Amino acid sequence: MAKPASRQFAFLLLLGNWALSLPSAPDYLQRGWQRLLEEGENCLSCRPEDCPSPRGCLAGAVRDHCDCCWECANLEGQICDLDNTNHFYGKCGDHLECRLDAGDLRHGEVPEPQCTCLSNQALCGSDGKTYAQICKFQEVLNARPVANLSVAHKGPCESEPQIMSPPYDIWNVTGQDVIFGCEVFAYPMASIEWRKDGAEMLLPGDDPHISVQFRGGPQKYEVTGWLQIQGVRVTDEGTYRCFAKNKVGEVTALASLTVLTPEQLNVTGLTLPQPPNRDFEDEAESEEWDDYY
Ligand SMILES: *[C@@H]1O[C@H](CO)[C@@H](O)[C@H](O)[C@H]1NC(C)=O
Ligand SMILES: *[C@@H]1O[C@H](CO)[C@@H](O)[C@H](O)[C@H]1NC(C)=O
Ligand SMILES: *[C@@H]1O[C@H](CO)[C@@H](O)[C@H](O)[C@H]1NC(C)=O
Repeated sequence: MAKPASRQFAFLLLLGNWALSLPSAPDYLQRGWQRLLEEGENCLSCRPEDCPSPRGCLAGAVRDHCDCCWECANLEGQICDLDNTNHFYGKCGDHLECRLDAGDLRHGEVPEPQCTCLSNQALCGSDGKTYAQICKFQEVLNARPVANLSVAHKGPCESEPQIMSPPYDIWNVTGQDVIFGCEVFAYPMASIEWRKDGAEMLLPGDDPHISVQFRGGPQKYEVTGWLQIQGVRVTDEGTYRCFAKNKVGEVTALASLTVLTPEQLNVTGLTLPQPPNRDFEDEAESEEWDDYY
C-alpha cells in the first residue's frame, strides 16, 4: 500500500534535518516522526501488557496507530488526521471531530485540520462555572477527576452582572463630544441604565445633547452601553453611573466628567492631545462611531 505523500515528505525532512529539527519541532510533529520511526516494528503483534497506561489525558484516550495501546487523544484546536485515523498527527478525543476550517485564514496560510468541538452549547458546571461547550467541560473534568464535577444544566450558569470594562473618568473642553462606555457580562443578559449623580432622572431624558446606545457583545452574554454627550457644557460636569441589572443581581460603575472652559485650560497649562484641526476631528469622530453600529 502506498504511503500518503505527507508522510514521505516528513520522512525525508526527518532524515535531512535530524539534529536540527527534532529538538525544536512542535510536539505534534515530533509525535508524527516518532511514529515513522516505530512503523513496521510494532504493529505486527500487539502485547497489551507492554503498553504504557496513558495518564492525564484531557480529551480522553484512543487506540494508537497500531490499534493496540491506549494513548491520549488530541485536544480541541490541535492538529489531527483528517481521515479520522490515528496515523500521523493523532485522533481527536471525545465530542471532537477533525475538520479542515479554511474559514479565517490569513493570506498565504495553508489550512490545517484541527480537532473541533461537535457542540457549541454552553454548559453550567456543578462548580457554578460556565463552560463554552462540552469539550471545555470535559478537559476540566479529566484534569481533576477527584473534583466530582458534573453538568448542572445546559446553558450558562446564572450570573449577576459583572463589569468587564468600566466607564473611565474623562475631562475635556466645553463644546467637545465625550463618550462613556460600559461593558457588562451577565446571564440572563443584563439591562443597562445611565444616570447622573444628583439627578434621579434616567438618561438621556429629554436632553437633546445626550444620547445612549446599547448593543449585545463584544463577547457572548455581554451587553455594552454608551453614553454620549455632544458639545459638553460646564453644567454637564459630574459623576455618571452605569447601572446593570438582571434577575440575579446588579452592579454599578462610576466615572466622572470634568469640563474646562478654554480659559481654564489656558490657566492649567494643559493642552488637548489633538490640534484644533476641524477636518481631522470630524474624521476621528466618524471613525469612532462606525464601530458602534
Ligand atoms: C458527588 O456529587 C454528587 C452530586 O453532585 C453527590 O451526590 C456525591 O455524594 C458526590 N460525591 C463525592 C465523593 O463528593
Ligand atoms: C476631547 O474631545 C475630543 C472630541 O470628542 C476628543 O478627540 C479628545 O481626545 C478629547 N480630549 C480629551 C483630553 O479627552
Ligand atoms: C491663552 O493664553 C494666551 C497667552 O498665554 C493668550 O494669548 C490667549 O488669548 C489665551 N486664550 C484664551 C482662550 O484665553
